[in-house]
Parts: sequence; C-alpha cells; structure tokens
Amino acid sequence: MRSSLVLLASVLVLPLEGMAAYPERPITFIVPFAAGGPTDVVARIVAENMSKTLGQQLVVENVAGAGGTTGALRCAQATPDGYTIMMGHMGTHGAAPAVYADLKYDPVKDFVPIGMAAGTPILIVAKKSFPAKDLKEFVSYVKANSEKLNEAHAGVGSVSFTTCAFFNSLIGAKPTRVVYRGTGPALNDIVAGQVDYMCDQIVNLVPQIQANSIKAYAVATAQRSPVLPDVPTTKEGGLAEFQVSAWNAIFAPKGTPPEVTKKLSAALQKALADAGTRKRLLDLGADLTDKEAQTPEGLAKLVQSEVARWNKVLKTVAMKEPAPPPK
Ligand code: MLT
Repeated sequence: MRSSLVLLASVLVLPLEGMAAYPERPITFIVPFAAGGPTDVVARIVAENMSKTLGQQLVVENVAGAGGTTGALRCAQATPDGYTIMMGHMGTHGAAPAVYADLKYDPVKDFVPIGMAAGTPILIVAKKSFPAKDLKEFVSYVKANSEKLNEAHAGVGSVSFTTCAFFNSLIGAKPTRVVYRGTGPALNDIVAGQVDYMCDQIVNLVPQIQANSIKAYAVATAQRSPVLPDVPTTKEGGLAEFQVSAWNAIFAPKGTPPEVTKKLSAALQKALADAGTRKRLLDLGADLTDKEAQTPEGLAKLVQSEVARWNKVLKTVAMKEPAPPPK
C-alpha cells in the first residue's frame, strides 16, 4: 500500500517539478501576421524584455493568413505546455467569430489569457498624393469615388479589415478591398502610392507619419495621440461616430498549467513596468493605461466584451466568411 502511495506521489510531483523549472527551452511566440506590422512590432518589443525575465528566448514565428485566424488556430491546437504562446488582438480574439461562419477556435474557451501588451488607437491614413486636405474632404472624396479606390487590409477579421469595414459602412463607401499578409506590407504600398487608404494601428504608422511619407487624416479616439499632436481626432474632423481602438494581448492554449501562465503573466507585467520597454511602446503611440486588461482576469473580461461588441457592429457591415481550411 505504502509503496503504491509513494509511487503515486512521485508521478504527481514529476510534472509539477517540470513546471517549477519552466521555462527550460525557448518559447515559440506566434504572431499571426507578416513581420513588420503592428502585431509583430508589439510582440518583439515585449518579447525582448520577457525573454530576459524568463531566462529563455521568446522566438517570434510569423504565421500569417486568414486575417490572423490561421496563426490563432495554430496556437489553440498547440501542446499546452507553455512553449507555444501567441500575440492575439481585437481581430483574432474579438471580431473573428462575427465574420467566420465556422471559426475553428473559440477566442474565450480555447485560450488562457495572459494579459494585454498594448492598446492601439486606430488611424485613417492614405497615400501622400491622395487629393484631400482634411478628414471632411477625404470622406467626401471617398464617398464620391469609392468604386475607383483601393483600401488595404490584413485579411478578413483583422483589425484593419474590421475597423475600415466599420468606416466604409459609416460613410457609404464600397472601395476595392486589397488583402495583405499584414499591414506592414500594406503600409509599403501606401507609401509607394500603390494603394489609396487603410485603417491601421498607430504603432505601425508613427514613423511614416512623422517622416511625412503618408497622410494621416484622423485618429479614432476621443483625444489626440501625444506622439501625433497634429493629427486631429475623428470627432474634430466631423466623424465622431468613428471611435475605435484596438489592442494586442498575449494568449496561451487552453490547458496551459497555472504555474506556467503565472510566470508568463509576471514576465509581461515586468516588461510593462520596464522604463525602456514602456518608452519604445509609448513612442509608437501605444496606450498602456488599461492595467486591468494587463492581468489574465481583465483580459478574459475584455475578450468576452469585444466578441459581443464586434458581433453587434459587424452584423450590419460584413458578410459571414467561410472559415479557411485548418493549415
Ligand atoms: C491587423 O489586424 O490589421 C493586423 O494587426 C495587421 C498586422 O499586424 O500586420
């Protein structure tokens, strides 16, 4: 009897010991869009500091496709041992269920929330040669010419797709919507004048706006961004209804042990308290004020509310898309 109890105890203890030593090897950090876009930029900035805290590299793996749902599905189906996590956002863990009829994952049930890394206000930007001097002129021009215009996004259900679907529906525009593997590559085409406009997250846009290589018509938040003081709000531009902000947050697959998620959450909190990491994010216009959403419990609440919110908003503006075959 005694020996079987000892054996049982040793079997139970073994996994916990393993978790106590976590992490013992590099951690795959899935970014569900192309390198160089907002999700990738936020992930790499926080990963650098988290790697120092955890003592193992967070290795970013860009798994693009289907508006970020390909990468999200990859994470949802990964072994829940703490060695695969992802940077999700308002698209993959908010809007996706509203635009994919049979999405192969549930943003709430199939993930363990770790915490929000950055809030990301949305801007309406256009190629430098776009013939409008302010948001009022931009809206009038797009309404009158949308059939001749191209709008860039990062795939159905992405933040850029979702927010510009909302914008287009508000002003009654029907542009040709051009899909990219991320708004990093999309921004290159805006700079090159190959595509007309897009709705994107501030952390992708600040360098190009400050370099005056694209036009920024408005930021869709109540206040102007401190890093872009000359870019008016949508309200100042006469489009107060277009108020929208996105967010980027870290998730692990359902079933990841609490000892592991606690370490990941603590490492994220440490990164968000680190002066250098904060400066890099704030200089790109990130909003780091939502302390509640930076916790696992707060992020869980945010995902639930965002899924409900975007389901309501997108019912009127976007069709249901068949989910892509699992990769
Ligand atoms: C999006 O949802 O538009 C993505 O954040 C774009 C990206 O990160 O490349």
